[in-house]
Amino acid sequence: MKRLSEIYSGKAKTVFRTDNPEKLIMEFRDSLTAFDGRKKSTAPKKGYYNAQIAAKLFQLLGEKGVKTHFDSMLSKTEMVVDAVDIIKIEVIVRNIAAGSLTKKYPFKTGQKLDPPILIFDYKSDEYGDPMINDDIAIALGLATKDELFRIRELALRINSILVEYLDERNLLLPDFKLEFGRLGDEIVLADEISCDTCRFWDKTTGESLDKDVFRFDKGDLVAAYREVARRIVPEIFAD
Ligand code: TMP
Ligand code: ASP
Repeated sequence: MKRLSEIYSGKAKTVFRTDNPEKLIMEFRDSLTAFDGRKKSTAPKKGYYNAQIAAKLFQLLGEKGVKTHFDSMLSKTEMVVDAVDIIKIEVIVRNIAAGSLTKKYPFKTGQKLDPPILIFDYKSDEYGDPMINDDIAIALGLATKDELFRIRELALRINSILVEYLDERNLLLPDFKLEFGRLGDEIVLADEISCDTCRFWDKTTGESLDKDVFRFDKGDLVAAYREVARRIVPEIFAD
């Protein structure tokens, strides 16, 4: 597979065309931002750890029957994915109250949310990713009613699979963000699942092992990402 021109460069990933029009390359970079890009940094190997974590979790979901855009890894940081039509909704699943939920509503950090809370945000830098409901999503033409139903169903299924898998690795999953895309007449999981897009807490200590380390200056970001990688993709530390 040949990497061709760049299509889009986001805050932490760059997407390239390939010689196969049905496939793209998503490169995970070492840069990171928070608070709508107001805080910026780079962290060595961060792209590598996130790419490996995302690949492993996409494969796990695939084995459990959840279709994703994952195809293969081209290198340590380059993922080959299906070219999908991205749905401009950020789907946030919350199992434990944290982050903005505790700022906007009277939830206490650490409070269990059972059943999980699903939130839809409009994926738009221009509008600051505002929270939307089904009526707004449909009126804006972001997705149909049937697609929203399917997205909800998939997000909850993905959540159950991840919570169980991570629990076995002594990790809690307070919340995370998903993006979906259209591929033919199916809705598939796209974007990434990584330390940038999830909150991971050590089950024993409650320590943050995700981008909150960067957002709130909680310590060594690379050490936190490496620790999650150690638990999810131990095979990359074999030699
Ligand atoms: P929040 O508490 O800041 O709303 O974040 C909820 C979850 O969504 C958290 O796991 C981080 C993830 N997230 C993203 O991946 N991208 C974003 O732009 C935001 C705001 C959150
Ligand atoms: N707002 C997002 C976050 O904090 C990403 C960003 O602002 O760059 O996760």
